[in-house]
Amino acid sequence: MTQKPFLQALTEKQARPPIWLMRQAGRYLPEYRAVRADAGGFLDLCYNPKLAEEVTLQPIRRFGFDASILFADILLIPEALGQKLWFETGEGPRLEPINSAAGLQLGGVKSHLAPVIETVSRLSVSLPSETTLIGFAGAPWTVASYMVAGRGTPDQAPARLLADTRPQDFQSIIDLLVEATIDYLAAQVDAGAEVLQLFESWAGSLSGAAFERWCLAPVAAIISGLRARGVTVPIIGFPRAADCDMADYVARTGCQILGLDTGADRKAIAQSLPSDIVLQGNLDPQVLVRGGDELRRDIASIMEDFSARKFIFNLGHGIVPQTPPAHVAELVALVRGEKDL
Ligand code: CP3
Repeated sequence: MTQKPFLQALTEKQARPPIWLMRQAGRYLPEYRAVRADAGGFLDLCYNPKLAEEVTLQPIRRFGFDASILFADILLIPEALGQKLWFETGEGPRLEPINSAAGLQLGGVKSHLAPVIETVSRLSVSLPSETTLIGFAGAPWTVASYMVAGRGTPDQAPARLLADTRPQDFQSIIDLLVEATIDYLAAQVDAGAEVLQLFESWAGSLSGAAFERWCLAPVAAIISGLRARGVTVPIIGFPRAADCDMADYVARTGCQILGLDTGADRKAIAQSLPSDIVLQGNLDPQVLVRGGDELRRDIASIMEDFSARKFIFNLGHGIVPQTPPAHVAELVALVRGEKDL
C-alpha cells in the first residue's frame, strides 16, 4: 500500500507539498451553515458524532484536501472538567470565569468527550483512503486564558494577572489541563487520529520566563506524557505569534511539525531549523479572502521560501467566514500545480 501523501511528506521532501487549512470546516461553506442550523447550534454539532463527521467531510468532498481535521473545539475540555460553556450567537464562546482549579475535576472528562472520540472513530472509517486524519486540542495557556477571562480577550490580561499574582492557583489549572489533554489526545489516537495538532493561539501574549513556564513547559509535558503512553504519531506545534527561538521551541517541546503563523519570518526559520523538522503554513487568511494576483504571488513566495524543506501548505491562522469557496478551490489547484502560478 502506498503511503498517504500527507504522511509521505513528513519523511521525504515532495515536489508538491500536501495541503489542508486550519478551520477548513466552517461558516464559509453553505453546506456547513445548513448542518449547523439543523443541529441547533455549534456545541450541539460538536457533540453529535454523525453531524460532526458530516461537517468534517464537507471540505474533503469539495476540495480534496490531503488532511482532514476533526470537527470539535478547544473549549470542550474546560466543559468536560466541569466549567459551564456556551456560545453567544454572533460573538463567540463564553465560560463562567474561574481563578483556580477548585470545582474542576478530571473524573468526568472521558465520558463527556466520548461523543468526540466517536466522531474520530467514524471518520477513520469514512475518510477517503488517501486522506490523513488530524486530531487536536488547545495548548494549556490558550485554553486557560479563556477559562480565567470567561471569553476571548485581546491581550489575555485576566490570565496574565492570575499567573503573576497567584501562580500556584494558575498552575493548578494548567496541571489539570495537561492531564486532561494527554488523556483526550491519547483517546483520539486510539480511535484513529494519525497526527495531532496543539493550538497555542495566544502564545504571543507571553515572553521570557512566563512563556517558558506557561506555554513551553505544558506543551512539553503533554508531548512527553503522550510518548510515555506509547503514542507515536507526529505532533504539530502551533505557537502563534510566539516571541521565542523556534529551534528552541521545537527541541524542548518535542514536536515534529512546526505550524507557522502569518507573521513568521519564513526565510530565517527555513534556514535555522533542523532539516528533520517539518514546517507548516503560512498564507495570510485575508489574502485568501481577496484572491487574485496577490494570492498567486504569496503562494509562489511561500513555495519558494520552503523549497528546500519538508513542508505542508496551510494558512497562518484559521480560514475566516468571508472566504469565497472558489478562492479555496483555486488555492488547492495552484499548490498542486493543476493551474499555473
Ligand atoms: O479547524 C477545523 O476545521 C476544526 C475545528 C476547530 C474549530 N475550532 C471549530 C470552530 C478547531 C481546530 C478550533 C480551534 C479553536 N477554537 C481555537 C484555536 C485556533 C484559533 O482559531 O486560534 C480557538 C481559540 C477556539 C475557540 C473558539 N471557537 C473561538 C474563539 C470561537 C469564536 C470565533 C469564531 O470563529 O466564531 C470558536 C467557534 C468555532 N470553532 C467555530 C468553528 C467552526 C465557529 C462556530 C460557528 O459555527 O458559529
